[in-house]
Amino acid sequence: MLLALLWLLRPALAAQPSAPEPIPAPLRSLEFGQLNFLHTTDAHGWLAGHLQEPSYSADWGDYVSFATHIRAKVEAQGQDLLVIDTGDRVEGNGLYDSSEPKGLYLSEILRHQHIDLLTSGNHELYKQNTSEAEFFTTVPNFRGKYLASNIDIIHPTTKDLVPLAPRYKKFTTKQQGIRIVAFGFLFDFTGNYNNTVVQPVEDTIKEDWFQEAIRDKEVDLFLVIGHVPVHSPEYQAIFKEIRGLRWDIPIQFFGGHQHIRDYAQFDAKAVGLASGRFMETIGFMSIDGLTTDTQPNAMGSSPVFKRRYIDNNLFSYHHHSGLDGESFLTEKGQNVSQLIAESRTALHLDQVYGCAPHTLWTSRVKYPSNDSIYTWLETQVIPDSLKDEWRSETPALAIVNTGAIRFDIFQGPFTQDSTFIVSPFTSGFRYIKNVPYNKAQLIMDILNKQPQVLRASQHDMGSPHTTLAPPEQLAYVEDTVADRDAAWDRRIPFRGGDFQAPLSGDAPSDKLVPGYTTKDDAGTDGDDTIHSPISFYRVPNCIQALVSANASVVPETIDLVYIEFIERYVALAAKFAQLDVDFSKESDVYMPSITFTDLILDWVKEHWKCE
Ligand SMILES: *[C@@H]1O[C@H](CO)[C@@H](O)[C@H](O)[C@H]1NC(C)=O
Ligand SMILES: *[C@@H]1O[C@H](CO)[C@@H](O)[C@H](O)[C@H]1NC(C)=O
Ligand SMILES: *[C@@H]1O[C@H](CO)[C@@H](O)[C@H](O)[C@H]1NC(C)=O
Ligand SMILES: *[C@@H]1O[C@H](CO)[C@@H](O)[C@H](O)[C@H]1NC(C)=O
Ligand SMILES: *[C@@H]1O[C@H](CO)[C@@H](O)[C@H](O)[C@H]1NC(C)=O
Repeated sequence: MLLALLWLLRPALAAQPSAPEPIPAPLRSLEFGQLNFLHTTDAHGWLAGHLQEPSYSADWGDYVSFATHIRAKVEAQGQDLLVIDTGDRVEGNGLYDSSEPKGLYLSEILRHQHIDLLTSGNHELYKQNTSEAEFFTTVPNFRGKYLASNIDIIHPTTKDLVPLAPRYKKFTTKQQGIRIVAFGFLFDFTGNYNNTVVQPVEDTIKEDWFQEAIRDKEVDLFLVIGHVPVHSPEYQAIFKEIRGLRWDIPIQFFGGHQHIRDYAQFDAKAVGLASGRFMETIGFMSIDGLTTDTQPNAMGSSPVFKRRYIDNNLFSYHHHSGLDGESFLTEKGQNVSQLIAESRTALHLDQVYGCAPHTLWTSRVKYPSNDSIYTWLETQVIPDSLKDEWRSETPALAIVNTGAIRFDIFQGPFTQDSTFIVSPFTSGFRYIKNVPYNKAQLIMDILNKQPQVLRASQHDMGSPHTTLAPPEQLAYVEDTVADRDAAWDRRIPFRGGDFQAPLSGDAPSDKLVPGYTTKDDAGTDGDDTIHSPISFYRVPNCIQALVSANASVVPETIDLVYIEFIERYVALAAKFAQLDVDFSKESDVYMPSITFTDLILDWVKEHWKCE
């Protein structure tokens, strides 16, 4: 009774207390169908939403409320809803990275969403204890929902190699009894720690269990979810394997990893949706005209697929659910928002370490430029901070991959949360001594201009979807030279002005809020919110900073310093540059026990005083 009373007295929480109000904007509605989906991917711990960006300011609690309303709404029409998440839930936000052990609060928050199907991403597998936390916590929290078609794990106690989760699942939907066979894949990832085994997708689909599953005659839809780009060789292979046997069964793919909004049309009955990153986007799909046991359809007619990329904010949520303010918030959703707020407090995520004098962008400005986060690192942070006491005054050239930086720094307070948002990685530095300066430059050239040489030459770097640059650029890096620009235009999340399609009949563009203006296989009408475009610039794979006592002299030899995470790439590039060094024997730790993240944080504390 008292609890209930307290609950009533609490101010109506929506989003996090410090989150900005969403800005009203023209919206495209959701087109519901027989079977509907909500999809998240690559959340990377952002369950509190974006506290400095109104367009993405709703939190996981609001998403819980939203999914509840959408489920009720479609079920009232006799339709079905499935909620999907395709991995990389971990690493990249203080809510995950700040706790010890990591993820303590996050997994507790995550479990409150009614997720129907989920998979692992590559980030769940980089470290032994991350995959084991997945095995012992997230898989049981979502028992019967978590799928791992191509991931095995060495059982932490029995030491047997076992599936991380069931390979696939057959089920029928609640309202219409639509018969679904679902799979959960990870792309052909090779960077996992050795306690997990990721079997290449192309091999997995030849296994008996998969072959049997796709021969099932009692199926209305194949549902392939995964941490796999929707335009990828892996999904092509799965599509061909299923379609080769089952010419008429619809296939719905959900994917991720590239951090982009994307939609792939495989054929008239098979499509795939990718739903961005960092809780910026909630992907929506509907399928109408499915032939089911109880609802026979005209022979051969194709189902109708509709897609929508929802901006994660309350303005969009209210519109799509047809509710507002008080009526939108569910008790459970509010509880989850409250849990997030309490977790953030317990983790001191609002603790301020300094104040950024102006915004520094990863890809919204040209590199190099004064507003580029990479220029800031090259010209200020690294030169001021890179110093190993054992190497005294030896000049050093530091190589940092641009993918080590994950997000922009906004003008204003730089907090405990910002630290992990900008660079969540725990890699420190290593170095090789006495490297001729010109060889080091050659290595930089190879890393930046010839990544395909590196990839083609060594299989364990052959994972087509890992790169030194931020994942948003993967679509570009992967394609052949001839296709590059077309691929770039098709897939990048933010587009330059010259690419924007006219939005006839919509509000004048000077009133629009800048944001996603996605172009995908189905056109330019995918985004729910009509935005003005944001420019997006390519960045190199790696940046460099020369740290030397005498800036007016180019040193003959240097300590070649690099982030540990990219050692394989640097070692291979060194081989191509004919630098005769055995990295496994001759490299050593530089600045022991300092990570790149520490380096940035220490610099901020010293240089960015708040007024
Ligand atoms: C994994 O181990 C590291 C180092 O001890 C620790 O900081 C981290 O919190 C652990 N992560 C998990 C998920 O247990
Ligand atoms: C995994 O790698 C560690 C070194 O990081 C090594 O000691 C261990 O033997 C390897 N285990 C297997 C099963 O290969
Ligand atoms: C919300 O939290 C209150 C207070 O802890 C609790 O009594 C209530 O059962 C929770 N409601 C739901 C739907 O989880
Ligand atoms: C960039 O910053 C430097 C140092 O503060 C300044 O000298 C230079 O004029 C700036 N360049 C531009 C284009 O603003
Ligand atoms: C830097 O090197 C130049 C050229 O050798 C020399 O003239 C200058 O004195 C040096 N400066 C410092 C600070 O050592």
